[in-house]
Amino acid sequence: MIPVSRPCLGREEAEAVARVMGSGMIAQGEAVAAFERAFASYIGVKHAIATSNGTTALHTALLAAGVGPGDEVIVPSFTFIATATSVSMCGATPVFADVDDRFFCLDPASAEALVTERTKAVLGVHLFGQPFDVLALTDLCQDQDLLLLEDACQAHGSTFRGKRLGSLGELACFSFYATKNMTTGEGGMVTTADPELAAKVRLLINHGQKEKYLHTTLGYNYRMTDMNGAMGFVQLGRLEGMNAKRQANAKYLDNHIQCPGVVTPAVRPACTHVYHQYVLKVENGAKLPRDGLLQGLAARGVGTAVHYPRPVHDQPLYRGQQGRGPCPVSIRLASSVLSLPVHPLLSREDLEAIGRAVQEMM
Ligand SMILES: Cc1ncc(COP(=O)(O)O)c(C=O)c1O
Repeated sequence: MIPVSRPCLGREEAEAVARVMGSGMIAQGEAVAAFERAFASYIGVKHAIATSNGTTALHTALLAAGVGPGDEVIVPSFTFIATATSVSMCGATPVFADVDDRFFCLDPASAEALVTERTKAVLGVHLFGQPFDVLALTDLCQDQDLLLLEDACQAHGSTFRGKRLGSLGELACFSFYATKNMTTGEGGMVTTADPELAAKVRLLINHGQKEKYLHTTLGYNYRMTDMNGAMGFVQLGRLEGMNAKRQANAKYLDNHIQCPGVVTPAVRPACTHVYHQYVLKVENGAKLPRDGLLQGLAARGVGTAVHYPRPVHDQPLYRGQQGRGPCPVSIRLASSVLSLPVHPLLSREDLEAIGRAVQEMM
């Protein structure tokens, strides 16, 4: 079976982790600090704070932004659950806006319609590896005096008008989970230009500890280990190459999948797409419905996934809350999207097999 995702790890990562293990200093230390400096410089921000995963990055970024009980944060309904649950973890309310049908990201008009006097922030998601509409959402946030936060957990290295995602909102969050474009197994990062916000995040991820055993605020243990930091440093150095391979794979699939009712991913103008996922839309008029294609591909040895089969506003966790939905585009996408393998370890034969399988069935 061609796996839908696979981490791209080599000897360099293994050696970097072994060096940390051999040093006897395996909790947070110099390897994490070096990774943070390199990541901040790559994204083009002053501050990067490593965390234990993307969810803890989001939780602490929202807390640092002052999000708390009584506040509302506008999030897209078509995303991974952690975008919303991190808001709930702060005691605030995620308010679900719809996404646009082409790029799958937060629809600015839908977000604007949900602004109330309780709205504190908009948490946009750069979904599948390309940016949300940064200009429209920046305008909205400026007009309404809201914070713009970036969930960049799927968008390492992607750009909007030449600027790296993760440098465009007040705070941004990344995940280094095993399937991401770069990985530390589990891991995350908060980026910001603001020194005060950076200091708050640093305090929150380390037990609210201002100096050793002096605790000034309720904090957490959300630190990254030096083993993860060492792996992240090596992965960051390989990111551009791995993204270029994903882009070349996506181009092959774009060129070899041309079937009625099957829509290949659109790329927002003046932006880059780093194809964390390569997501097809299977629409009315296609030869098979989405699930028929999924089953047929599995039978032909092609692994796929559905990102995401249920919009967040319709999850049992959030269902029935006031002011949720209807988010019709998110609902439609949940039953029409299908992710194909696009990761850097695909061979030419794999790509040919994927393209041929879709083409034959559809
Ligand atoms: C959009 C989005 N937000 C948040 C997260 C949470 O990251 P993690 O799994 O590292 O906690 C993910 C990762 O899966 C994600 O894709």
